[in-house]
Amino acid sequence: MIKFLTLKINLFLWFITTISTFNDMKELKCGLVGCGRIGCGYDEKPDEFLIRTHAMSYIKNNHTKLVSLCDVDKNKLKKYGKIYSVRNQYTDFKEMLKEESLDCLSICTHGDTHLKFVTEAVRKNIRGIMIEKPISDSLNNAEKIIKLCKQKKVILAVNHQRRFNPFYQKISHLLKEGKLGKIQRVNLMYGGGIANTGSHIFDVLRLFFGEAKSIKSELSKNSSHKNFDPNLEICIEFQGGFIVNLCPLDLKNYGILEIDIFGTKKRLSIDLVTNENKIFSSSRVSQDYKKLEKLKKLINFSYPPTDIRFGINNLIYCIKRKKIPVCTGYDGYKSLEIVIASMLSNKLEKKILLPVTNKNYKIKFR
Ligand SMILES: NC(=O)c1ccc[n+]([C@@H]2O[C@H](COP(=O)([O-])OP(=O)(O)OC[C@H]3O[C@@H](n4cnc5c(N)ncnc54)[C@H](O)[C@@H]3O)[C@@H](O)[C@H]2O)c1
Repeated sequence: MIKFLTLKINLFLWFITTISTFNDMKELKCGLVGCGRIGCGYDEKPDEFLIRTHAMSYIKNNHTKLVSLCDVDKNKLKKYGKIYSVRNQYTDFKEMLKEESLDCLSICTHGDTHLKFVTEAVRKNIRGIMIEKPISDSLNNAEKIIKLCKQKKVILAVNHQRRFNPFYQKISHLLKEGKLGKIQRVNLMYGGGIANTGSHIFDVLRLFFGEAKSIKSELSKNSSHKNFDPNLEICIEFQGGFIVNLCPLDLKNYGILEIDIFGTKKRLSIDLVTNENKIFSSSRVSQDYKKLEKLKKLINFSYPPTDIRFGINNLIYCIKRKKIPVCTGYDGYKSLEIVIASMLSNKLEKKILLPVTNKNYKIKFR
């Protein structure tokens, strides 16, 4: 019965974000810049159940056609052009825009190139842009991206993919309903650097707990093995008055991403890579050390958090229906703001209050 219900809910959610766009049958012409891992590479060996690239997400969407690819690397263009059957290939972004009349664009390069591509794209009649996280390299540039899209009425979505996934929306809803009681403490284990992994983490934290108030961080001894994007020990105070601790692990030993949420009534642990979740309640027996009792799984969603179809489908739905995407430019900005606050706190050795005023501070990508 539970399995049947779960299936029904999943099918309903797929319907909302995919099939329900059927009233406008025009196929949108989509292009992609940056044929690296998230653009094209992760789906080199196709997997029906997990789509991890923008290219394959457009191919799987009934309302889009992937018509062109752009990358400075000719070998990648040739390779992925063949895999995804895209004949129109460009090494120059401006040329792609000139030759193709695109409805929709995915920007899958690193953050320091995003503003340049958005500036060019909004001059054409592009209707929607999916931009990879982090939205940009500085808060100033992120603001410019948001403003340009707003001025030209281009729908801008940022690929923090968990926010698009129904599993995370459901958890956020349950937390807001007080399913765990009042939040007491949150611990999160990560390893892949504060800009790269952190931008995902901060978006999930905002979705679950609202806005952050202050950030204190210091360099971790457990390395990300990337000097330009370190692992930081971080303590974030949320407006709800509780503390979230980010605890880095050495990426060589642990490639994990896990969150442990302690409410006054229940404890919820989620593996943010697989969506495996465990929920516990504290035993009523009055002792100093109260035994935890494992409860039935909270939700049984099978769609992995790394599947980016939800995001692309949502963007296409928003373009066709003129709606606001689930993950907006503002969400991208706020997540980047916490990344930058964490970097500044480590550098200046002090607590940083939000909002961040140093909007010129730039994060590095290599
Ligand atoms: N959402 C996710 O889970 C996820 C996963 C991986 C990467 N990302 C993000 O996606 C972005 C790209 O990451 P990646 O791992 O795919 O990187 P990558 O290095 O594999 O790919 C980037 C590609 O962009 C191309 N490129 C760079 N400058 C260009 C230019 N001026 N014109 C055309 N092409 C250009 C490069 O040749 C390369 O092929 C980053 O912002 C990263 O944070 C997100």
